[in-house]
Amino acid sequence: MIKIGLLGIGTVGSGVYEIINSETFRNSIDENITISKILVRNINKERNSKYPKDIFTDDPKEIIDNPEIDIVIEVMGGINPAYKYITKALNNKKHVVTANKELVSIYLDELSEKAYENNLGFLFEASVAGGIPIIKPLTKLSKINDIKEIKGILNGTTNFILTKMIDENLSFDDALSLAKDLGYAEADPTNDIEGFDVLRKLAILSTIAFKSKIELKDILCRGIKSIKKEDIIFFKKLRLKIKLVANAIKENNKFSSVVEPMLVNENSTLSTVKDAFNIVSVTGNQVGELNFYGQGAGKSPTANAVISDVVDIINKDFDYSLYKEKNVSSVNTKLFSGRYYLRISEDIKNSEVFNRLKKFNIKYEILSNKDLALVTEHIPANVMEDFIKSMDFKGNDYCYVRIDGALETMKSKEAAITII
Ligand code: NAP
Ligand code: HSE
Repeated sequence: MIKIGLLGIGTVGSGVYEIINSETFRNSIDENITISKILVRNINKERNSKYPKDIFTDDPKEIIDNPEIDIVIEVMGGINPAYKYITKALNNKKHVVTANKELVSIYLDELSEKAYENNLGFLFEASVAGGIPIIKPLTKLSKINDIKEIKGILNGTTNFILTKMIDENLSFDDALSLAKDLGYAEADPTNDIEGFDVLRKLAILSTIAFKSKIELKDILCRGIKSIKKEDIIFFKKLRLKIKLVANAIKENNKFSSVVEPMLVNENSTLSTVKDAFNIVSVTGNQVGELNFYGQGAGKSPTANAVISDVVDIINKDFDYSLYKEKNVSSVNTKLFSGRYYLRISEDIKNSEVFNRLKKFNIKYEILSNKDLALVTEHIPANVMEDFIKSMDFKGNDYCYVRIDGALETMKSKEAAITII
């Protein structure tokens, strides 16, 4: 009998409980497997009557220090006390499975090493891209390939919000509230909207792909908060779609990594990814480009990823990859370039913007003069970042978005004529 201790039973935890007790899963596993204890924050909260009454505890020791428990599944979220519980569980010789990207993005090296020293599994498939199997295939790919690029949509909530704003004309707040109801959003949705959730996921993927511990601070991160309905109207006219994109590129031993809203051609693969779906594209020198696509958030897809780790632990099919080395160094945004859409609120004098663009030697074409909107020529990303910093914009004063490379051939003049 394999005994599992579950830390948390919210959106993901309840899905894990359902799969473990499903007939399909029980019939496919040779071993008997059971969830014997569930840690919750609020023991008095009313819970579904399907759970045995004595299964809940608010004392972590009943799981972490319980010699009968073989596998701890952490689906609580947050750094502490999750980090403390996972460390203790590994010290107490329990395998650990977690969906917690916030924690994995910081402690991946330390916890993998601890698991290695104790001959245990520390698996985190559900921490990136929900139901999409990506951690295990990427780990294998990185052993065979020199991975050059990772690019994708890694957040279900923001992709859902943008899809609803574009296709159904919903307001940002209404779309977010729907995403919360569907269990896609983080406990604090700021993490989704500001791009921090994608930042963490990209740090995890880059660490595995580049076989080097990638720090969060080395990834430039911008979310979708500054995008207004007016911008979406412009994008539609330009036949572009806005997506929150994660992108990491490696050249020799240097890498650039960003999380940013990006404008993609409406016929591109990225623009076909709708609602809470995610996509991860990996390019390696041997395999070429591979695309992984599926549901990026929500109860059952995420629980499916957690259970796939449990199965790997039962089958002793886990890899001891360690990520301590610093094989690559960050060159900020230097490896990226493109044309940029820039919109500036009417409170800021156009002449100030034009003068500053001239100072940075950035050429542009104007789309609108009211709320000033323009498209720059193709420029290095670091030049655009320096220009933006120099303007000292506040809050929603502005919005700037890189146009994906696929649009290089678009004649900007034609776009301008269409818009004005
Ligand atoms: P959730 O619905 O908010 O559930 C969290 C659960 O953990 C609740 O049962 C809560 O107890 C318990 N908990 C929280 N803090 C606790 C503490 N200090 N001590 C004891 N119990 C505690 O969260 P979720 O959406 O399932 O997400 C869980 C984790 O999975 C997070 O790391 C998240 O980033 C990750 N994840 C989520 C998704 C998704 O689609 N939702 C997808 C991939 C990964 P109570 O029931 O008493 O409140
Ligand atoms: N909040 C996350 C998302 C959950 O929307 O993608 C899945 O990691």
